[in-house]
Amino acid sequence: EQNTTILGIESSCDDTAAAILQQSNGKGVILSSVVSGQEDLHAAFGGVVPEIAARAHVERLDLCVEKAIADAQISLSEIDAIAVTAGPGLIGGVISGVMCAKGLAAGLNKPLIGVNHLAGHALTPRMTDGIAYPYLMLLVSGGHCQFLAVQSVEKFTRLGGTIDDAPGEAFDKTAKLLALGYPGGPLVEKAALAGDPARFKFPRPLLDRAGCDMSFSGLKTALRRARDQIVSEKGGISKQDRSDLCASFQMAAADTLAEKTRRACLAFLDLSKAHSPTIAVAGGVAANGVIRGKLEQVAKDAGFDFLAPPMKYCTDNAAMIAWAGLERFNAGYSDDMTLAARPRWPL
Ligand code: KG4
Ligand code: ZN
Repeated sequence: EQNTTILGIESSCDDTAAAILQQSNGKGVILSSVVSGQEDLHAAFGGVVPEIAARAHVERLDLCVEKAIADAQISLSEIDAIAVTAGPGLIGGVISGVMCAKGLAAGLNKPLIGVNHLAGHALTPRMTDGIAYPYLMLLVSGGHCQFLAVQSVEKFTRLGGTIDDAPGEAFDKTAKLLALGYPGGPLVEKAALAGDPARFKFPRPLLDRAGCDMSFSGLKTALRRARDQIVSEKGGISKQDRSDLCASFQMAAADTLAEKTRRACLAFLDLSKAHSPTIAVAGGVAANGVIRGKLEQVAKDAGFDFLAPPMKYCTDNAAMIAWAGLERFNAGYSDDMTLAARPRWPL
């Protein structure tokens, strides 16, 4: 395997990121990974504001690329190829990243490789742990929620996913509704520690329906109703109420994810006939201790190895984009200056 040095660029949501990566023994060697988050810019709005995100990406992309090169202790001329997220995502940010990558590719006269952001997440376990195809992947974050059978760099079979909101979005909305702050996931998890998960009977939607599809928007509505009822009965909401709401919400989300994961394991075995199957999880919501605990148990019961790459490579980063780009490059794919930024791009 020749030692390609690849630059990855990511700007599809609220993180501007650049990374330098090589390959050794079938996995990624991450020479640098720079992530510049924008939580502070969006916190006041309780969610990502696309226009603010796009402007911040434009300001930060060059700096992130420069820092990635400096951290990797290489020079620009040592870069052999440039990989960039070309979608799906917030279009202003994606365009900024694609333009930056095209400029570098043209200036350095090196290949340009457009990467699907979801493929970046889905191939992360190969970068971090060198696992073989096929494997089952659960992507669960603020923007995504789906089960994928990852069969090759080109072949991803979607086994199911959310039909409305992603769970991270529901965590963020819950935190906003209860005035906990942003991003909501870790704050809801913390508040839930002191709460009673059985106090509120929140829905576990679609459990009666076959398959691995999920729904989280009803959960959000149920939470709002429960809060409104407490407020109208007691004139306000106590710290204990908040904790109980968070714990009940978190348990409902965890139960739904766990049951659907159990079904996804069966569907994956049907499809792949894998002998020693692995399920990998990625995305911010996989950081949740209660959810992760349930998923590990489900995996164990189904005879699957459970793999959770280090958190910094599970949330948005550019190393995963560089890795996916490298796998595509090694498989003979590259793009030219017509590479388009795509707001929607199913795998
Ligand atoms: O993967 P990620 O960093 O970005 C994308 O959405 O692509 O995921 C961020 C999401 C946010 O919605 C955040 O609230 C959620 O992951 N999250 C969590 C936890 N930590 C982050 N949700 C539940 N529990 C957590 N501990
Ligand atoms: Zn992502």
